[in-house]
Amino acid sequence: MSRDRQIEALNELLKGEYMARDIYDKTKNIQGDEQVQNMLAKFQEDHDRHIQQLEDRIRQLGGEPQSGAGIAGTMANLSAMYKSLLGPDALLKQVYEGEKMGVDAYDDRLDALDPESLALVRRIKEEDHKHLQFFEERINQEKSTLR
Ligand SMILES: [Fe+2]
Repeated sequence: MSRDRQIEALNELLKGEYMARDIYDKTKNIQGDEQVQNMLAKFQEDHDRHIQQLEDRIRQLGGEPQSGAGIAGTMANLSAMYKSLLGPDALLKQVYEGEKMGVDAYDDRLDALDPESLALVRRIKEEDHKHLQFFEERINQEKSTLR
């Protein structure tokens, strides 16, 4: 497993973290549900921390962290903003899908990582699992109040 490949994998994951951070940043104030708003703000902080940690690790390996979420991130952002205008239900589903993609992206790249990066990525993934759990609970709550 080459160092370049490790750096490349970490940079791909970094891009996903930027994407998640931006989406929480853009959507947290748009829709009115206060509990959801607070969670989105907290998740944004988690992803800010993930960005910092991944950047530190990339630099430790001698790499250059890429910046921002790129074109895919901009598109995801616009879509999330639109969904958040439709209400918490649509937003929650969209963000849930995004988090799931993020966790899958981590799983797909575990083989490319050195032990120290792997330990970091495992910690990040645990936090994202907590994000997923929150969204699952909220989506179920929304369903039961509609009944
Ligand atoms: Fe997350």
